[in-house]
Amino acid sequence: MEPITLVLTGFIFVVSIVYLFVRSKHNFWKDQGVPYAPNPHFFYGHVKGQSRTRHGADINQELYQQFKQRGVPYGGISLFIMPSLIEEIEMKDVLGRFTTDVIGTCAFGIECNTLKTPDSEFRKYGNKAFELDPVTLTKFFFASSYPQLARKLHVRTTQQDVEDFFMKIVRETVDYRESNNVQRNDFMNLLLQIKNKGKLQDHDTIVGKGEVGLTHNELAAQVLIFFLAGFETSSTTLSFCLYELAKNPGIQDRLRDEITRAIDDNGGEVTYDVAMNIQYLDNVINETLRKYPPVETLTRKPAHDYVIPGTKHIIPEGTIVQIPIYAIQRPRICIGLRFGVMQTKVGLINLLRKFRFTPSARTPERVVFDPKMFTLSPTGGNYLKVEKVV
Ligand code: HEM
Repeated sequence: MEPITLVLTGFIFVVSIVYLFVRSKHNFWKDQGVPYAPNPHFFYGHVKGQSRTRHGADINQELYQQFKQRGVPYGGISLFIMPSLIEEIEMKDVLGRFTTDVIGTCAFGIECNTLKTPDSEFRKYGNKAFELDPVTLTKFFFASSYPQLARKLHVRTTQQDVEDFFMKIVRETVDYRESNNVQRNDFMNLLLQIKNKGKLQDHDTIVGKGEVGLTHNELAAQVLIFFLAGFETSSTTLSFCLYELAKNPGIQDRLRDEITRAIDDNGGEVTYDVAMNIQYLDNVINETLRKYPPVETLTRKPAHDYVIPGTKHIIPEGTIVQIPIYAIQRPRICIGLRFGVMQTKVGLINLLRKFRFTPSARTPERVVFDPKMFTLSPTGGNYLKVEKVV
């Protein structure tokens, strides 16, 4: 064969291979049977013009509208020749499942696995514990104002099935650990030491009044408050944070850059110190907590008559005082804050490294808080568009 024919044949062969390869990439979603955007540009896929004439937000908005008009909740596209998926996800539930799993293992020593099994009982009763209706609210205020009378009248502020579920889990866990002498590095382990010995293993201070420090019911109450206070607050913070980041792409990009830089500087490893020392991440979380404090009002009761300084007004002993945290935009410190901030950071770091969040057609301009929830929660969920970062 003549050299020119050889070169030409080789050229045609290489071009054909490249062509078939690119085509197979563009056909990826079609082959998977996933709804896909038609007519990708051979080289740019569906992002033609991005970073030159059009912003990614506009391109994604257009693609998203196409899928929406077709009535599909997600769809495949090509980022250049890379298959990618645009998906609208209700983030609040996903994040609630993440923090439920974290608290489940730290508080109960139980793998709740709600990320994998969304309709698990932990989610069902965890969510139910935060539902608010007029009867529960009335009972809550009554029990706060007249705790002794409420106790005598057996007024309960938690729902029976929620309480039964958590009490059963705690009882089973305690029984199992005690009969099998299981030691684990978690909150339950510490509570069991106090329950059985009246003190923590490495401490001399006796915390209980008698030989033992906690009754079974007291132990269960601690586990329950730890669980409830720990999963909803952090997942709410994460959810509002992503909502704000979706609406402020410049801040989202900068945060992603700072996270990536901190991890790269640490040899690619995400450690406790890395997570705790990204100043911009702190700023973003603090601003989220200022704008959306999950616990929107704190209640206090003066232990004796209190004269409001500089006035003649007296707040009588036992009066409920409400501190409107949301209105004054001052987040309050909490006993579990370090844990809460840590799991919020771990969640954000992992999500932002892998995904970009943008508003979808269902993302409201302004959040309307769900009146049926005890904590601040967006009505109708927190729908965002989620794409893989390439
Ligand atoms: C970002 C996450 C969190 C926020 C915004 C938050 C916020 C709050 C607020 C405002 C209070 C009321 C404080 C007061 O009355 O002055 C509180 C109480 C409490 N929090 Fe958190 N919290 C978070 C995470 C957690 C976590 C992860 C845990 C447990 C692991 C937890 C456990 C508790 C407990 C046990 C209380 C009751 C403390 C008491 O009454 O003495 N919190 N939290």
